[in-house]
Amino acid sequence: MATRWLASPISMTATAMTDERRYAPAASRNREPILAVLLPRLAQGARLLEVASGSGEHALWIAQARPDLAVQPSDPDAQARASIAAWCEGVANIAPPLALDAAGDWPAVAADAVLCINMIHIAPWAATLGLMRGAAAVLGPGGALFLYGPYRVGGVMVESNQEFDARLRAENPSWGVRALEDVVAAAQGFAQPIVTAMPANNLLLEFRRL
Ligand SMILES: C[S@@+](CC[C@H](N)C(=O)[O-])C[C@H]1O[C@@H](n2cnc3c(N)ncnc32)[C@H](O)[C@@H]1O
Repeated sequence: MATRWLASPISMTATAMTDERRYAPAASRNREPILAVLLPRLAQGARLLEVASGSGEHALWIAQARPDLAVQPSDPDAQARASIAAWCEGVANIAPPLALDAAGDWPAVAADAVLCINMIHIAPWAATLGLMRGAAAVLGPGGALFLYGPYRVGGVMVESNQEFDARLRAENPSWGVRALEDVVAAAQGFAQPIVTAMPANNLLLEFRRL
């Protein structure tokens, strides 16, 4: 079968496999730290909507680690959705991926938690605003929005994130590492986030719906 790659070398470094599945090295690297922080914060039986699932590996790992969850992956990219579907085929607690552009109209889904890993810096700011708006709409009071990625905090970024930010902006001027303060200000309808430091200068933000 033909080798397949996602469009952007920054948005995902993918390794071709023998089917539609993609392998995202970054997802493998951040898998364990994310699972360790995320899973204890998800209630038993929670419905988890993942935005920007990419390869689908995180959705798979979460669903396998927590069979009680109902996991709904999504991505606006058709090839990503094919990968998600291939990885998650036959896994009972994962639904087929939705075509969800955070900046657009969201499908009618109800969720207890929304997860978005490494998307908001690799999309225009409108995607962050849409993510906040959409998550506020699908979550009930107390529902959680989890965001994972690099951030600029108080105008400061470590050198590795500065370099990453420069590469992102060179590829697309509307991309870039976001300021934590801007993301918090955009989270209308949510309480102030719990901020957890993660490996490689990433943060995991947990917003709770008011
Ligand atoms: C770097 S990948 C991260 C994928 C996955 N979350 C992971 O950590 O492996 C960025 C993903 O964001 C998705 N994306 C880009 N713009 C988006 C938008 N406006 N709404 C939702 N997803 C978007 C891309 O299709 C891609 O799958």
